[in-house]
Amino acid sequence: MNVENEKWIAAIASADYVKNGMLVGLGSGSTAAFMIAELGKRVAGGLIMKGIPSSDATAKLAKQAGISLISLDDAGTMDINIDGADEFDPKFQLIKGGGGALLREKILAHNSRFNIIIADSGKKVDGLGKFKLPVETIPFATEIIISELHNMDLKPQLRMKNNEVYKTDENNCIIDVDIFKKDDLQELNNHLIQIPRCGGNRTFLNLYGYCFNGAREQGCYL
Ligand code: A5P
Repeated sequence: MNVENEKWIAAIASADYVKNGMLVGLGSGSTAAFMIAELGKRVAGGLIMKGIPSSDATAKLAKQAGISLISLDDAGTMDINIDGADEFDPKFQLIKGGGGALLREKILAHNSRFNIIIADSGKKVDGLGKFKLPVETIPFATEIIISELHNMDLKPQLRMKNNEVYKTDENNCIIDVDIFKKDDLQELNNHLIQIPRCGGNRTFLNLYGYCFNGAREQGCYL
């Protein structure tokens, strides 16, 4: 099965969890875009829900799909949050943030009663780290955090776009680090969260653990 089909299957399976009246965190990225399109179809068919977008790009997609949006402040706690991932391991630990929306994504995940991750089979790895771990930082602290990450032997690279420093929707920077040789991700996670003003910087360890078996058999994960 091709990757696009796998994303569709996972997206449709995740949409089945959205019931009338729910407040739904909407993730970012190409897999989340399938879920938003599917929810848009269901809204057109009568589903009543409100979305809380994790990025400006997602807000735009959701509006185009006909999904009503509300702010995180107005939503408070969400019923469910559905998002993609860059990598997941056998323990369902994740790397997220390839699309640069990780801090908002983490905030939505934290404020949701239920989290679902949708991913195609290409995201499955034996150990996290082929994909660089994104670390979101406020501009004020970015250089000093790069030094600190360098001292941790994480080979930090400031993310660039079109020859300029990449900025998130929150006007933050992203430093991509190499965790491939790190065996103890929990220890790394604990170390990273100690760095002041280092936002959205974790590997989403232990946050998600749901696997939808029907989709899994077809090579997809949810
Ligand atoms: C966005 O910041 C990310 O966390 C995405 O969820 C992740 O990059 C997955 O994106 P794709 O679905 O496009 O692979």
